[in-house]
Amino acid sequence: MLLKDKVAVITGGASGMGKAEALAFAEKGAKVVIADINYEGAQKVVNEIIVNGGSALALHVNMTNSAKINDMVQVILSELGQIDILVNNAGVFDKYKTSLETSEEDWDFIFNINLKSIFLLSNSVLPGMISRGNGTIINISSVAGLVAGKGGAAYTASKHGLIGYTKHLASVYASQGIKVNAICPGTIVTPLTKDILDNIPVDNIPARRFGQQEEVAELAVFLASDQAKFMNGTAIPIDGGFTIQ
Ligand SMILES: NC(=O)c1ccc[n+]([C@@H]2O[C@H](COP(=O)([O-])OP(=O)(O)OC[C@H]3O[C@@H](n4cnc5c(N)ncnc54)[C@H](O)[C@@H]3O)[C@@H](O)[C@H]2O)c1
Repeated sequence: MLLKDKVAVITGGASGMGKAEALAFAEKGAKVVIADINYEGAQKVVNEIIVNGGSALALHVNMTNSAKINDMVQVILSELGQIDILVNNAGVFDKYKTSLETSEEDWDFIFNINLKSIFLLSNSVLPGMISRGNGTIINISSVAGLVAGKGGAAYTASKHGLIGYTKHLASVYASQGIKVNAICPGTIVTPLTKDILDNIPVDNIPARRFGQQEEVAELAVFLASDQAKFMNGTAIPIDGGFTIQ
C-alpha cells in the first residue's frame, strides 16, 4: 500500500475534499488524523474509515488558535509517535467580495484560516519532520492562487500567498528531506461550493464539467507518496484545463 503506516494529519477532514482525502489516505494504509472545528463531522468520517478496516482519529481544533494547534500536535505525537504527512486543507471562501466590499474583519477571518493557520501548524509539525529527515506537506491552494476572478480579494490574496509560502518551505527545507507542494483545484463539487455552482459557467472550463473531490484526493495521495519524491515547491492545477486559457 502506497502510504502504509504513515501518519497523515488532514485539517478540515470532516467535509468535502478533506473528507475525500481522509478516506483515500486511509485506503492506502495511512493512519489518519482529522483535525476540524466540526468534531461531529470528523468523527463520522473516522467511523467510516474504521468500518472499512482503517485507522483514524478525530480531533476538535479551531485552526486559528495557536495554543490549540500546538496542543493537537503534542497529542498526535504522544498517541502516534510522529507526523509523516500534513495536508493543510481547511479553508473558507469569501463569496467573491471585491476589495471595496471586504471589511478588515472579513480579511482577517479569511487570512487567519487560509494562511496564518497553515504557518502556525507547519511550524509546529516541521521540527519533528526535520529531525527524522523526512516529511511531506500538501497545501490546498486554489486556481484562485494562480489567477484572478475565482474568488474575492481576500480569498485570492490568501491562496496566492499560500503558493508563495509553499515555495518558501520547499526552498528552505528540501535539503533536509522535506517535500512541500500545493494543489490548486478549480471548481470542485463540495459543501463549500454547493450554493454557488449554479452561477459558475461550465463553458469556461475546457473539460465542460466541475471536478469531484475524489479526483483531488487522488492527486493528494500521489503527492504524499514516494512516487512524487522529486517534486518539491510545485503548485499543481487540477481544474479541467481552466487555467490554460
Ligand atoms: N470546493 C472548491 O471548488 C475549491 C476549489 C479550490 C480550492 N478549494 C479549497 O479546498 C479546501 C477544502 O474546501 P472544500 O470545498 O472541501 O470545503 P468544505 O467547506 O467542504 O470543507 C472545509 C472544512 O474545513 C473546516 N474548517 C473551516 N474552518 C476551520 C477552522 N477554523 N478550523 C478547523 N477546521 C475548519 C470545515 O469545518 C470543513 O470541514 C479549502 O481550503 C478551499 O479553499 C476549494
